[in-house]
Amino acid sequence: MSLSQLARSICESPTLKLNETAALLREKGEPVIHLGGGEPKSKCPIDAVVSCANLLHTGDVKYTPADGIPALKKAIIRYTEEHYNRMVSADNVIVSSGAKQSIMVLLHAILDPKEEVIFPVPFWVSYPEMVKLAGGVPVPVAARDGSFQPSVEEIAEAVGPYTKAIILNSPNNPSGAVYSEEFVAGIVELCEKRSLYLIMDDTYNRLIFDGRQPTNCYRYTGVHNIDSSKLVVINCVSKMYAMTGFRIGWAVASKTIVRAMTNIQSQETSGPAAPSQWAAVGALNGVQSSIESLRLTLENNRNVLIKHLQAFDGVKVTKPGGTFYSFPDFSAFEKDSQKLSRFLLEKVRVVTVPGREFGMEGHLRISFCGTMKEITEGVDRIKWALDPNAPNELFLGDRKLVRDWR
Ligand SMILES: Cc1ncc(COP(=O)(O)O)c(C=O)c1O
Repeated sequence: MSLSQLARSICESPTLKLNETAALLREKGEPVIHLGGGEPKSKCPIDAVVSCANLLHTGDVKYTPADGIPALKKAIIRYTEEHYNRMVSADNVIVSSGAKQSIMVLLHAILDPKEEVIFPVPFWVSYPEMVKLAGGVPVPVAARDGSFQPSVEEIAEAVGPYTKAIILNSPNNPSGAVYSEEFVAGIVELCEKRSLYLIMDDTYNRLIFDGRQPTNCYRYTGVHNIDSSKLVVINCVSKMYAMTGFRIGWAVASKTIVRAMTNIQSQETSGPAAPSQWAAVGALNGVQSSIESLRLTLENNRNVLIKHLQAFDGVKVTKPGGTFYSFPDFSAFEKDSQKLSRFLLEKVRVVTVPGREFGMEGHLRISFCGTMKEITEGVDRIKWALDPNAPNELFLGDRKLVRDWR
């Protein structure tokens, strides 16, 4: 069957694929521990449920404006004022079906064929594919010192005549790194000097630890009129309110960008599902304590995971400053991260995501959004599988595993 060149050039999302694999194995009764997940375990806020149910009870569930319902835009405007100290109007906001769609529609709105989009390594798995889908060329930039944050100079060296945009995601999926304020300030300045779009993917902005405050990119802009700015801030309810299944995200940008994005979205999908938008209104306008409680749980999980990994000889681990991901270096055991991830799934039924998917070989993404038991038992299983001095047997429930490898 003939498929388009584009279809043939796009890979399946490896993280979604792993979710499916884990679910299938669990259905078969396999004792899988999923440390590859990308969503909090907690329930969504009750205010979201009530607000969504109120709409459903009317039975009047119809199309919405392509850029989102006014009540949600109002809640986003208030959120932007409260968390970014930035006054914006409804024309500066577009609501999409998840942050993913906001980024995708934005790339369609700004990229001409073969234009380049720069992002630091390691990067969220979807950026390269999304840039390709929009006809552009992904340009990942790795730090020469092997760290999770390249310097402003390294990013600047990658800027060329075809560069159209830079994407920053902090705290970062997969490393959990919170980029320094100086780095964000430097990239804002670079983009404004070179007239580039800056896409700030703030999906995990509120999930940060150790008493740090979320980075507010607007603090560093020299362009105070948002309608003249090429800075676009992406957010969503997915992670901070544990509402991944509702699929609501948004972009805050100049009127010109929002208008172009709205035209594209109106032709592609129309407005996001009305019940989901009302759920997001409920979450944003309701009691906010669930974010802090999730953040505290994640910080505690992070501490336990890191302690376990630090006690694991041969593993190099950098403490994540936010998100629910860690990105330890397992290259002392196996340099090919896909091979290692497959081995761990096959031998000890632990799901991890290979670092190669995020542009960094030798690493595995290990999530800490699961239960404490999953985290500790998962790492213990990995240790057993990799440590040649470990005892020969391991019990998974009442199933005995015997090592037949070294
Ligand atoms: C960095 C980053 N941006 C965007 C998204 C997508 O968010 P949503 O589920 O709202 O589409 C994710 C989801 O994993 C992510 O990790």
